[in-house]
Amino acid sequence: TQVEKAGYKHFMAKEIAEQPGVLADALRHYLKDSGTALSLPEEVDFTGVDRLTLVACGTASYACLVAKYWFERIAGLPVDVDIASEFRYREPPLSPTSWALFVSQSGETADTLAALRYAQEKVAKIVSVVNVPTSSIARESDLALPSLAGVEIGVASTKAFTCQLTVLAVLALKAAVDRGRLNPEALAGHLAALSALPGLMNHALGLEDRIATIAAQLAEAQDVLFLGRGAMFPLALEGALKLKEISYIHAEGYASGELKHGPIALIDSHVPVVVMAPRDALFDKTVSNMQEVMARGGKVLLLSDGAGVAEAGAGIWQSLTMPMVDPFTAPILYALPAQLLAYHTAIAKGTDVDQPRNLAKSVTVE
Ligand code: AGP
Repeated sequence: TQVEKAGYKHFMAKEIAEQPGVLADALRHYLKDSGTALSLPEEVDFTGVDRLTLVACGTASYACLVAKYWFERIAGLPVDVDIASEFRYREPPLSPTSWALFVSQSGETADTLAALRYAQEKVAKIVSVVNVPTSSIARESDLALPSLAGVEIGVASTKAFTCQLTVLAVLALKAAVDRGRLNPEALAGHLAALSALPGLMNHALGLEDRIATIAAQLAEAQDVLFLGRGAMFPLALEGALKLKEISYIHAEGYASGELKHGPIALIDSHVPVVVMAPRDALFDKTVSNMQEVMARGGKVLLLSDGAGVAEAGAGIWQSLTMPMVDPFTAPILYALPAQLLAYHTAIAKGTDVDQPRNLAKSVTVE
């Protein structure tokens, strides 16, 4: 069946807008009893699993990086994350009591498939999170979990990413339950945070006009930095990748704490710095990072909630007030403004959003 743009100018715009709906679909699949209990195949039992190795490319690898924070913090399970093209040639030792997990939208990415084949017979279980259930990666896994984003056509991955994150979040909660790390109340809190996401995403999508106004100015930059801390660090990487893919503006993502170890040398009044930081336990550290940027004439675009924007105070170039969100699910929600920022910057530059130069939707060459 041919997928249409359904009135949107680009597939990417349509796929961004679809996120509240497809995420709700994924939640209906992976949760039961009106979202108050996990619903996973029986084989998803982390008892006796001592380590997870997560492998993917590009945006899918950033989903894995977010998941590392969840598995380690909530489930106390050690996680290694690797990009497939490094993993497969490094020949890493893998423990027979570990699981290897591969994340891919297409399920056909050559490096990810080769990495999966490398891990076969070396680990206890090969699990994949794939958007195309008939794909090679799905077929060659012991267990393939669908990400349920629906067909994604835009080369820049959007809804596949937030659905991958949702499946990984559910897996991290299951690991925490199996390892006796999560009492029923804590589990209920995390499940409620997941169930709140579709509604919060609708709020975030409502910021589109404001984002488009900011993007028109961002389009004049030659370089943009993205900063984030903790589980928001991979979102900084994702925001930068999205922007460079479709607007061709040079962008880099850094962990906020790394700024002073090098990248701060790049800061001047021509380099916008996008700070992705909900008001959390480490927010005051982020405020001092922003001050370091502003003291050097840098322009800060702060993506935070109302409390964060208020605390950041004066001197910020632009701010975008996001809805309040549980820290657990914040990385999923903050993907949306990052996608919209890239999209509208590309629109302002007049680039080909759905078919950016030099890129293919599915990278089946090595
Ligand atoms: C994301 O916007 C990219 N176009 C790219 O990084 C992509 O995520 C990567 O090639 C992995 O693809 P896959 O999920 O189909 O394996």
